[in-house]
Amino acid sequence: MSSLPRFPEGFLWGASTAAYQIEGAVAEDGRGPSIWDTFSHAEGRTKDGDTGDVAADHYHRWPEDVGLLAELGANAYRFSIAWPRIQPSGSGAANPRGLDFYDQLVDALAERGITPVPTLFHWDLPQALEDEGGWLNRQTAYRFAEYTALVADRLGDRVKLWITLNEPFIHMSLGYALGMHAPGRTLGLDALPVAHHQLLAHGLAARQLHDRGLGVMIANNCTPVRPASEDEHDVAAAAVYDALHNRLFNDPVLLGTYPDLSALGPEAYPSFVEDDDLAVIGAPLEGLGINYYTPSVVGYADPAGNEGLPFTLNQIEGVPTTAFGWPVVPDGLRDLLVGLRDRYGSALPPVYITENGCSTNDVLTNDDRVHDTARIDFLAGHLRALHEAIEAGVDVRGYLTWSLIDNFEWAEGYSQRFGLAYVDYPTQRRVPKDSFHWLRDEIAAQR
Ligand code: FCB
Repeated sequence: MSSLPRFPEGFLWGASTAAYQIEGAVAEDGRGPSIWDTFSHAEGRTKDGDTGDVAADHYHRWPEDVGLLAELGANAYRFSIAWPRIQPSGSGAANPRGLDFYDQLVDALAERGITPVPTLFHWDLPQALEDEGGWLNRQTAYRFAEYTALVADRLGDRVKLWITLNEPFIHMSLGYALGMHAPGRTLGLDALPVAHHQLLAHGLAARQLHDRGLGVMIANNCTPVRPASEDEHDVAAAAVYDALHNRLFNDPVLLGTYPDLSALGPEAYPSFVEDDDLAVIGAPLEGLGINYYTPSVVGYADPAGNEGLPFTLNQIEGVPTTAFGWPVVPDGLRDLLVGLRDRYGSALPPVYITENGCSTNDVLTNDDRVHDTARIDFLAGHLRALHEAIEAGVDVRGYLTWSLIDNFEWAEGYSQRFGLAYVDYPTQRRVPKDSFHWLRDEIAAQR
């Protein structure tokens, strides 16, 4: 019996993962080191010193994971391709064994009727490129386009919808501004070129994909922004935060323009934006990927005592939180999508939810089950909110939950479990959680 309203015909149902978070096998078949290998092996960077060396061992257990997708009834799967498997030192000829891995995965998905939706960059930059400045270096964008061409030439006959980048905002802010993720730099607002170079990489890669007749999207982390009060300072602060988190990445790809970031200081971006860049970045897309986790409540702060930032993020009170401590606000997904439609109008391509999910304190019980009721509530609430957005006229074509299996949650290591299937790390056994069975039944009821 379904508890959800009916979603549109042809809707994509499935789950998402990312290479460094699940694959392991970091030194196999010619893979080169990535910034996450370096970062996670450095002292004190991740919880308990966890690394992705083994992760969920997906590199060896992928047939089982494809089996899980089939059992779920998924008709789509978002995974990421590890750039350091394809170009171990970030440039030059493709490593054939790297391409072979994703080739066999794509074939296995096709056999099960599952649409592959690969992401070309989910934060695992080849270390060799970081050594030359990483995303602070404009050249990285050109290297990314070359890498994209190598992968598209091999998989483009079967993969028709591609994601260029995952969450360039989070990569810039946690990786380059705040130092919480690889590459661990603490540049503050000087990290802004990282936004532009990633966006340029997206545009140049989109051109490679479009030249081959392939569909393109980007997966942006988006948050509906609410001012802490109606006070004009809070309202203005919320607008600045919205520009930095959301519009800095949506406006250029959808409108070919940058939002006004002058409130963040005089240096905002002109010096590193070259003449044709925005035309490249703003080429029309076949989809917009949205990763939604939680809203933001923003108040005014005096930039002088706040590292130059005129805003502060407030606690959201009175709602449940995930194991990570993230507030659970399903309506935020509807508000976000309706807000995007209102802002971008006909410039908004079809939307795909490319991530949405929660971590829970899962335990394997004696009956070999995981009773993750909180995840079921989370999914049901967000799917209802998503349906409301569709009813309100937003063209949403898919929902890919984060994540298929428990995995390496970046700086949190293995302490946060986001999977529909539990991974017993000592044995690598996968145990579908109650939420897996719930979603499987809901997907079946939609057919
Ligand atoms: C997103 C990331 C994804 C995962 C979830 C929980 O920001 O894209 O890899 O870590 O958060």
